[in-house]
Amino acid sequence: VHIFKISIKHNIVSSISLSMCCRCQWYIKAKMTAEDKRRASYQNGLVPFPGIKTYVDPDTYEDPTQAVHEFTKEIDPCRIRIERVIGAGEFGEVCSGRLRTPGKKEIAVAIKTLKGGYVERQRRDFLREASIMGQFDHPNIIRLEGVVTKSRPVMIVVEYMENGSLDSFLRQHDGHFTVIQLVGMLRGIASGMKYLSDMGYVHRDLAARNILVNSNLVCKVSDFGLSRVLEDDPEAAYTTTGGKIPIRWTAPEAIAYRKFSSASDTWSYGIVMWEVMSYGERPYWEMSNQDVILSIEEGYRLPAPLGCPVALHQLMLHCWQKERSHRPKFVDIVTFLDKLIRNPSCLMPLVEDIQRYKRVALL
Ligand code: ADE
Repeated sequence: VHIFKISIKHNIVSSISLSMCCRCQWYIKAKMTAEDKRRASYQNGLVPFPGIKTYVDPDTYEDPTQAVHEFTKEIDPCRIRIERVIGAGEFGEVCSGRLRTPGKKEIAVAIKTLKGGYVERQRRDFLREASIMGQFDHPNIIRLEGVVTKSRPVMIVVEYMENGSLDSFLRQHDGHFTVIQLVGMLRGIASGMKYLSDMGYVHRDLAARNILVNSNLVCKVSDFGLSRVLEDDPEAAYTTTGGKIPIRWTAPEAIAYRKFSSASDTWSYGIVMWEVMSYGERPYWEMSNQDVILSIEEGYRLPAPLGCPVALHQLMLHCWQKERSHRPKFVDIVTFLDKLIRNPSCLMPLVEDIQRYKRVALL
């Protein structure tokens, strides 16, 4: 009910903005630069307000290297010191190291490299993620430091996240955090997702494995690049219509007819909530993808993990509403989680306590 109220308020604000949008359009159009016009043509025909940044798909550029120039900074490789290999990506090794920035102190970075022998298409797909990341500036979105494209190896340099990916981090620290700490992580992810949805960016592969955690437990959304991301994701499986989709994390309408939207990202966010509250348990355990799809269609939803407050399981269930327009917006989720953090007593009733109480009441 609470989330529903917030949602109504948000919709009123949206419709006021919409009517203003129509009246001001002539003025905005007159003031638009060529770049603004190009941006506008990709926002479902809606003219953005000047000053409100929207995401530009690098694929809308005739020459995608132009998007790299526009949205990223070229780094002189002599400023980078590679220290260790920390993983393997689809295009090459991922390393940790240090970056010297003029006038600033050295910072820890992660460096994604493009291995030699690539074809032009691979280089373009590799740098696509940097062109997307370079457009974002938010404390809960992984920060792009820059790229190396004028010398070999080609590299993408991002901020270093000491605790790695959220799924493995939680599995390694099973039961170690307070509910407030877990809600703090979820609040950060929701805030990053609110920023992305405000920018008009749909992630499509939101999952704990694609969230990175730093030494202060700050969670940041990472892994951008749509189709490439799904190619790279071992969880993504081919559907009957030929798409590659991480079934357990994906909303039914996105699986059935590829209707990806911020509302389908909200469904995935509910699954991330469940992953966090269960310390990295696999959603739907060992059920097959086909069984997951059929169970969801029949109305089955994941039960609350052990120790999960009722308020959080209720929020998950809101995110998993079949009708996508009934799901909460990320702004509603952030507001709701903020209220829980400010009033921790709301987190006291646990799902298993309520269930035990009901059993006793029946006896
Ligand atoms: N693995 C992939 N990206 C990373 C990052 N930015 N920091 C730490 N580990 C990572």
